[in-house]
Amino acid sequence: MLITAHRGLSSVAPENTLIAIQKAIELGAKSVEIDVQISRDGVPVVIHDFTVNRCTNGRGLVQDIDYQDLARLDAGLWFSDEYENEHIPTLAAVLALIKKHGIALNIELKIQNEVHILALCEQVIAVIEASKVTTGQLVFSSFQHQALLLLKRLKPSIRRSQLWEKIPDNALKMLEDIYAFSINCDYRFLKKEQAIKIKQAGYQIHCYTINDPALIEPLRPLHVDNIITDWPQRF
Ligand code: G3P
Ligand code: MG
Repeated sequence: MLITAHRGLSSVAPENTLIAIQKAIELGAKSVEIDVQISRDGVPVVIHDFTVNRCTNGRGLVQDIDYQDLARLDAGLWFSDEYENEHIPTLAAVLALIKKHGIALNIELKIQNEVHILALCEQVIAVIEASKVTTGQLVFSSFQHQALLLLKRLKPSIRRSQLWEKIPDNALKMLEDIYAFSINCDYRFLKKEQAIKIKQAGYQIHCYTINDPALIEPLRPLHVDNIITDWPQRF
């Protein structure tokens, strides 16, 4: 089983910041997950929530704020004084780090407004191409099937993972439609029969967000491939 550091080493450092990713790498993580959105002026940035309220000292929707204003916000203080002066990273900065260390990156696309799907996908691809990161290091994931369909068309060489909480009845059809590499699902809802079908059809199974190592034992017989965790240091 591969272990993926969820939002970087988010149990130790503020989620989705460069320091959180650096700490995951120092710990020896071979794979990191981040969440990506675009700023008002179209810059792909790394942040989970649709607002900056929880993880920065600012207020408002990410999609309504220009990058230069997002970049001024402190994204570390909410977590601890030790992390003052951490900022919302660009996807470009994260890719530079990933490239330097040769680890895998799961880029989760967060889409608040469907109007932004095309812009988000195009900008993310442009940044990836400029970064010269090997596409084999990357996987796109999203809860939005439409985004994955679009990514398949725009950049087929980067693998795609469909995110679900509960796996739907038409899962195999959806996976076929995006030529999926894997599913990312909530471990609490994964059923044995579903896991068998998904694996038999040739897809990997990645489970989020597992923070207690004891919880992976029931997943071993299901041949789960990847555990996404805030606490990779426990595994
Ligand atoms: O990729 C797994 C996980 O990141 C999906 O949920 O809300 O933590 O982005 P969330
Ligand atoms: Mg995520």
